[in-house]
Amino acid sequence: MAQQEDVFKKIVSHCKEYGFVFPSSDIYDGLGAVYDYGQNGVELKNNIKQYWWQSMVLLHENIVGIDAAIFMHPTTWKASGHVDAFNDPLIDNRDSKKRYRADVLIEEQMAKYEDKIQKEVEKAQKRFGDAFDEAQFRSTNARVIEYQQKYDNLHHRFQEVMNAEGGIDLDGLKQIILDEEIVCPISGTRNWTDVRQFNLMFKTEMGSTADGASTIYLRPETAQGIFVNYLNVQKTGRMKLPFGIAQIGKAFRNEIVARQFIFRMREFEQMEMQFFIQPGTELDWFAKWKETRMKWHQNLGFGAENYRFHDHDKLAHYANAATDIEFRMPFGFKEVEGIHSRTNFDLSQHAKYSGKKIEYFDPETNESYTPYVIETSIGVDRMFLSIMCHSYEEQQLPDGQVRTVLHLPAALAPVKLAVFPLTKKDGMPEKAQEIINDLRFHFNCKYEEKDQIGKRYRRMDAIGCPYCVTVDQQTLEDNTVTLRDRDTMEQHRVPISELQSIIEDKVSITSLLKKLL
Ligand code: GAP
Repeated sequence: MAQQEDVFKKIVSHCKEYGFVFPSSDIYDGLGAVYDYGQNGVELKNNIKQYWWQSMVLLHENIVGIDAAIFMHPTTWKASGHVDAFNDPLIDNRDSKKRYRADVLIEEQMAKYEDKIQKEVEKAQKRFGDAFDEAQFRSTNARVIEYQQKYDNLHHRFQEVMNAEGGIDLDGLKQIILDEEIVCPISGTRNWTDVRQFNLMFKTEMGSTADGASTIYLRPETAQGIFVNYLNVQKTGRMKLPFGIAQIGKAFRNEIVARQFIFRMREFEQMEMQFFIQPGTELDWFAKWKETRMKWHQNLGFGAENYRFHDHDKLAHYANAATDIEFRMPFGFKEVEGIHSRTNFDLSQHAKYSGKKIEYFDPETNESYTPYVIETSIGVDRMFLSIMCHSYEEQQLPDGQVRTVLHLPAALAPVKLAVFPLTKKDGMPEKAQEIINDLRFHFNCKYEEKDQIGKRYRRMDAIGCPYCVTVDQQTLEDNTVTLRDRDTMEQHRVPISELQSIIEDKVSITSLLKKLL
C-alpha cells in the first residue's frame, strides 16, 4: 500500500513537471481541490472528451448533443431535490479542528478490513505457491474469518444507518465511528462532534443587490441542463423514443473531503447522457448501457481485470437502480462513472414546478406519458486520472537505466509525433520542419532540436508521444527517416511519403471508435 502511495505521489509530480496538471493559482500556493490543465493535459483531456462525444453522438443515430448554461433558474434545484437532499454528513474532530465526511471515515474503516484480508491472502499465496486454493483459505483461516466478520457487521450497520427511514441516521453514523474506535488521522484522538448535514452546492448572486439580486447555484451536475431542455430537443429534433441527449460541461461541488489530486475536485467536468425511454423498459436499458459503457472503458486496452461494477445499496433520491464502473487506481478500486436508472423523477418534478406538460406522445401506442431515463455520467477528470495512473511506468532498461514512460493509448496522447533533426546543420532542421508542415494537418506534431537524441526520446516518452522520427544524413540522400515506437523503443527506416499512412490510423480517435462496433 505504501508503495502504491509513493507511485501516486510520483504521478502527481509527473503531471506538474510535464505540463499536464497544475494546482490552480499556483503562484498563490494553489486553491484547495481546484486544478488547471497545462499544455499537454488539455490535449489529453480534449481527446478523452472527443472519444466520449463521438462514441455517443456519432455512433448513435438517436443521440444528439447540447451545451446548456452553467447558471440555471434556481427553481431547477428545488425541483431536482438538490436544495433539500444534496448533502454530505460531516463530523469535526475537536482537537485537530479538521472536518471529515462521516460516511467516508466508515468506508475507509471497511477498506482497512478488506486490506487486512488481502494481505493474509497474499502471504498465503506466496507460502503455498501453485497449490494455493484461495476459496478454501478464505473459508478456513481464523484471521481472515475474523476480519470478514468485522467487515460484514460494519457493512450491515452502515447500510442500516445510511438507508434509515426519513434519511440518513446521523446519530447512528456517529455511534459507528465511536464503536469502531476510529481516530482522527491528524490528532489521533476520538474527540468527535455530532454529525451534521452540509449542502454541497455553491451559491452566488445574480443581478445587483439594489435590484433585489436572486440566489443562484453553480450546477452540481450537468444532467439538469438536459432535463430542462428535453421538450426543446424532442420537438425541434423530432426525436422518437428511445433517444438520448449528451452533454459535456463543468460541474461544481463544495466537497469537504477533497483529496487524491483530481479524483475529488470542487470544480470538475462531467460527460453525461440522458437516455429517454418508455416506462417499464428501464431495467433492460439499464443492463444495455452498463454493457456499452464497460466496453467503452475496456476498449482502451488497460485490461478487464482493472474494472468492476459496484451496484449501489443506497440509491440516490431519484434512482431505482444504480451502479458504478470502478477502476483500479493506486489507492484502490474507485468510481469513475455512474449509471443510473432515474425513473421519471426529474421530468415529473420539472413538470410540477414549471407548470408545463413534459410528456411524450407515443405514436405507436397513441398514449402520452412521462419518459423514464437511464443516465450515464462520467467525470472527465477521473477518467484522466485513471489513464495517467495506468499509463505511468518507471521502466528498468537492460543497460541499467530507468526511463519514465507514459503508455497512453495513442489515440489519446497529447502529441502523436515528434520530429528531430539529428544535428542542427546540413539542412536537417529544414527537412524536419518540412515533414511537420506536411503532417500537422493530420495530427499533433512537435519539433525538437535541443539536446542529444537520447534525451529528446526520454522527454517524448514522459509525455506519452507514441512516435518519434529522426532526420539524419541518409534522409537527405533517400528521403527516408527512422521511426521509433514509444513502447518497444524499436526503430526502423521508412520513406517520408509513408509516414502519414503508417501513423494516422493508429493515432486517430476513429481507430478507437471502430473497435467499439
Ligand atoms: N448526474 C449524476 C451524477 O452527477 P455522480 O455519481 O454524483 O452522479 C458522476 O457523479 C461522475 O462525476 C462520477 O462518477 C465522477 O466521475 C464525477 N464526479 C463526481 N463528483 C466529482 C468530484 N468532486 N470531482 C471529480 N469528479 C467528480
